[in-house]
Amino acid sequence: MTHATSAIDFGDKRRGYDELARQLEGLLSGERHRVANSANMAALLFRSLPDINWVGCYFLEDGELIVGPFQGKPACVRIAMGKGVCGTAAQRRETFVVPDVAAFPGHIACDEASRSEIVVPILQGGTLRGVLDVDSPERDRFDDQDRAGLEEFVRVLAPRVDWETL
Ligand code: SME
Repeated sequence: MTHATSAIDFGDKRRGYDELARQLEGLLSGERHRVANSANMAALLFRSLPDINWVGCYFLEDGELIVGPFQGKPACVRIAMGKGVCGTAAQRRETFVVPDVAAFPGHIACDEASRSEIVVPILQGGTLRGVLDVDSPERDRFDDQDRAGLEEFVRVLAPRVDWETL
């Protein structure tokens, strides 16, 4: 097990995301605790991804999303299914890339600096566990490579966490 992570060059995004997934595997090895692993996951992303101002997960609990470990400004705690970008991505079980949050009906503003956002559902087997949310202060920050890279990141994360533990 290693908790050592190193700076990642996202000049080549695909290589950057490959390295990110590799570092996540090292970071989570030997541990399955939901909060511990989500906290380290968020710290790794916040430190690694350029031009972001908020990253973390929302857990699905009793039919609503509740904020989990994150990095960035304090955030709204509960989001109903179908509400905001997070609730919409969770309900539809698909990734949402929002190039301009001001143009997304029902967007929930937690940090007024956020301009664009990506939300990736966390699925374990067929079960929805929550979402990964990343915000950027730049418009149009997230492209198809970010979508593919973060979906792969979540595929590495999901089976390595015991989602039933608090
Ligand atoms: N913008 C999100 C809410 C969560 S914050 O960005 C951390 C949404 O619309 O669901």
